[in-house]
Amino acid sequence: MKIIKIVILIILINLVNVSAFSDQSAEDIIKKRKSLFSENYKTAKRADILSKNLEFEDAKKFMVKMSENYLELLTLFPENTKEGFGTESLPIIWDNKEEFNALMQKSSDDMIKLASIIEESDEIRATLKQYMWSNCNACHSKFRKPH
Ligand code: HEC
Repeated sequence: MKIIKIVILIILINLVNVSAFSDQSAEDIIKKRKSLFSENYKTAKRADILSKNLEFEDAKKFMVKMSENYLELLTLFPENTKEGFGTESLPIIWDNKEEFNALMQKSSDDMIKLASIIEESDEIRATLKQYMWSNCNACHSKFRKPH
């Protein structure tokens, strides 16, 4: 009898721990992706200004960094992070995970493409829009809560 009670107690303790742990990690993941998006926003503005000032070497570094951040973001939308902790992500992300991931991957690829063509571009402003800014809206309009 005593052994059974102890076993049940251990199982209960583990259950509580596991749910507390996954809650904690959900919070960490949501915070992490928010901070990466905020960082990308700042980085995009820097890349934009530097490009318009024809400072391409520095601009390209920020573009490559953004591309890497998008790849990291691909890993930051697990099933247990659909709600809570102030997330602005819409549940539709998880119903359309392939489409969402494809948009994220395209945004990453476009930043590398942008870095390779910006210097030769005759239309700096239009090129930045096409390969960088338009991707923000394409995703937000469907997958992020209005804010
Ligand atoms: C493939 C989809 C996708 C792309 C591309 C994308 N975003 Fe987002 N963005 C999101 C989602 C989803 C959220 C909500 C994240 C959350 O709160 O869980 C978000 C949130 C944000 C936030 C708020 C972060 C916070 O602190 O709450 C900012 C700022 C932002 N994005 C800027 C940008 C900018 C600028 C670009 C383009 C340069 C961009 N995003 C491209 C999907 C995307």
